[in-house]
Amino acid sequence: MQIQDLKAKYSQLFPQSDAPICVAAPGRVNLLGEHTDYNDGFVFPMAIDPHILYVGGRNGSSRVRVFSLDFSELDEFDLREIEFSHQHRWANYIRGVCAQLLARGCDLQGMDIVLQGNIPQGGGLSSSAALEVGAALLMNELNGLGIDRVEMVKLSQKAENKFVGVNCGIMDQFASMMGQRDHALFLDCRSLEYELVRTGFEELGYSVVVIHSGVQRGLVDSEYNKRRSQCEEAVELLRRDLPEIRALRDVSPQHLDLVNDLPGDLAKRARHVVTENQRVLDGIAALRRGDLDLFGQLLNASHESLRTDYEVSCPELDLLVELCRGIPGTLGSRMTGAGFGGCTVTITAEAQVKELKAWVAEEYPAKTGITPKVYVFTASDGARVLEC
Ligand code: GLA
Repeated sequence: MQIQDLKAKYSQLFPQSDAPICVAAPGRVNLLGEHTDYNDGFVFPMAIDPHILYVGGRNGSSRVRVFSLDFSELDEFDLREIEFSHQHRWANYIRGVCAQLLARGCDLQGMDIVLQGNIPQGGGLSSSAALEVGAALLMNELNGLGIDRVEMVKLSQKAENKFVGVNCGIMDQFASMMGQRDHALFLDCRSLEYELVRTGFEELGYSVVVIHSGVQRGLVDSEYNKRRSQCEEAVELLRRDLPEIRALRDVSPQHLDLVNDLPGDLAKRARHVVTENQRVLDGIAALRRGDLDLFGQLLNASHESLRTDYEVSCPELDLLVELCRGIPGTLGSRMTGAGFGGCTVTITAEAQVKELKAWVAEEYPAKTGITPKVYVFTASDGARVLEC
């Protein structure tokens, strides 16, 4: 994936348009804090190297033309009438961002855009968030809108909620926009206060290994929404004893006895969220002390909680986690993202990565019939304008 190729395509398709600018927006992997963002809680993701590249310029009309090099498809729409596209589903993330900008009263001009990405699809590494955040940054620059980064994050999330119709939280867009090289992002999803925390993994001889289970996240939409409403229901019931709470974020681990008394699955769901928020806080404190062992144990505990209490794992993810934990030098391993397939994240000694890859390449297909994809990611910069 090269900017020069995107630029060449841009000149070929849109010879009359303005000189373009170039924007990159990365995917993310979440280290700790799963299914906490929509509970006003804490998350700790990092932006990764794979990203979406945009090359775009103004065209002096009210039309937007977007060419995807990955799909070899051209999407075209008018800014005065933006509808959901059933034909080019990938384009809805860009259409949605345009619609949100217009809803804010921004003065958008017609644009011509070429894009390409190398974020693994369907793996829970936030290629959609990267599409949105990159589009927001590109349009902000091209139209001189002067919108600040956190506002662009919010409107990108809104594009996904309202236009694409996926009820996600704010973590993915935030990580893609605000990530920083060598750092993970500690975000309070209620106040949107954040802090970039040096992970120190590489300096201390460790790697972040992400493995795609090859299982597509089929149930994810319906089950995701179900978990969200179960959390809201749990809050309603807990308010009888804790009238001041607004979200599960406000329930401290000290009140786990009340949580455990909730009916049926609600106890399990709420217990995950309450303990996961605490794991984020403990994990960050551990990293600051350089205690990677504890950080790893918290990853393991997070997986157990997601598997048994939140029930969003699947046998393939459990198997990958087991295999990775079996490698000496692994500090911790868990599923990452929404679940029901997608990826695991593992912190393992750099010197053992080769062995881990070989072990997973042998054992995982033997037991599942699926070839896994293994990646080593370092924490990367968030969305940015590139020289072009
Ligand atoms: C998806 C959503 C996020 C978050 C995670 C689970 O990635 O887009 O907002 O809820 O699932 O932690």
